[in-house]
Amino acid sequence: MGHYECKQLVSLADGEGLPFADGIIKLYMIDTEINRDSAILVKTAEHAFLNLNDCKLMERLPAIVEQEGPIQVYAAQFSGAIWHPTCYDYPKSKYEKISKAKVRSKFEAVARSLEAVRPQFYLPSAGPACFLDPGLIHLNFEKNNIFPHTPQVMAFLKKRLKKLQVEVPNLMPGDILDVPSGQWLHRSGQVVDETNLESYVQEYAALYAGLFEARRKRYAHVQVEDTLVKLKHAFQSKLDHMTLHQRVTVPLYFRFRNAPDQMLKIDFPAKTIERVGDISDTNYYSITTDSWEIERIFDGTLTWEDFMLSFRMRFNREPDIFSTLIHGFLTMEAEDMTWFCEKLLALETNQERIVIEAGGTRYAINRFCPHEGGDLSQGWVAGKTIMCPRHRWIFDLEQGGQCNTSNCTIHAFALEED
Ligand code: FES
Repeated sequence: MGHYECKQLVSLADGEGLPFADGIIKLYMIDTEINRDSAILVKTAEHAFLNLNDCKLMERLPAIVEQEGPIQVYAAQFSGAIWHPTCYDYPKSKYEKISKAKVRSKFEAVARSLEAVRPQFYLPSAGPACFLDPGLIHLNFEKNNIFPHTPQVMAFLKKRLKKLQVEVPNLMPGDILDVPSGQWLHRSGQVVDETNLESYVQEYAALYAGLFEARRKRYAHVQVEDTLVKLKHAFQSKLDHMTLHQRVTVPLYFRFRNAPDQMLKIDFPAKTIERVGDISDTNYYSITTDSWEIERIFDGTLTWEDFMLSFRMRFNREPDIFSTLIHGFLTMEAEDMTWFCEKLLALETNQERIVIEAGGTRYAINRFCPHEGGDLSQGWVAGKTIMCPRHRWIFDLEQGGQCNTSNCTIHAFALEED
């Protein structure tokens, strides 16, 4: 098998081009500290390939297409990749309801992006994740979760985009598309579909069977007590860098599955962390994981964000409301916390207002989404709500612009008509 060797690192700014042979490479970036991501455009004199991967740049697509001209091939994520609701202790019905709504809105986001890009080929990509860990493998086979498979998005787009001529292939490893001719040079002989998915994944997982066990054993000698001490120290460092700590009014409990009665309770306003045996609050966030997993952060194997993306944890929150600051606290490194808080503050103090129409009424709202700055001038209006195009938070215009899943608002008020 060949490999690529990195000879030089070239740093590009947002939208800056790097010429090569007869073409150019451009990166488009999002950097809100809590989310750093980029999309890549590879363009020659005749053809262009835009790969969004899971970068939420939907609202910039019309401008990119206008500037760069026709894009023949477009790739973007259609399946989920976040730990909500997957790692939350919800009843099955609630879990499935949230999952279905997320899948529906994600598919709609893909459809709208295709309407903006109008490519010849859409490559469904960047998912679904394939879970090989024995503790997570069941996620590949659940009927309703946030990890739909390609045929599902193909069926949705076929119905939803009747007028758009776009080819959506069910990609298999090894497929090669020749863009100038629009022909497939190679389609893999092996097709994985619902009839053979389980045996395919089980065979795949068997190749890695020893890996997960060996990983756990590697940390077996570490005492839970030592990990707790290190964890307390790491959280204290994050707290020390967290300038907006006063705003988090519920405590965060951190518990190890292998020592469930020795928890850390993080009190944000007081900036303190204490050892407790149980949850004593009515309103709280909690996270439960294995101590060996946290050891991987301390030995530099994982970043905090990698750990969160491992999906090897369970969450609970009362009430069931998203907190950007707790999310940031868990995913950021200590040294990034201050900058993250500053960015959040800058987002909130950006007073740019826009007027939108919903259900026959005009509303003044904040232009930028309080989550991560999505541009609501490109939002989706439905009834008396507006949905942010990035992660599809919904804001209720009749309730002052309150988000229905977080305590954020876009400060909406109806305008009097003359
Ligand atoms: S930026 Fe994430 S929902 Fe608006």
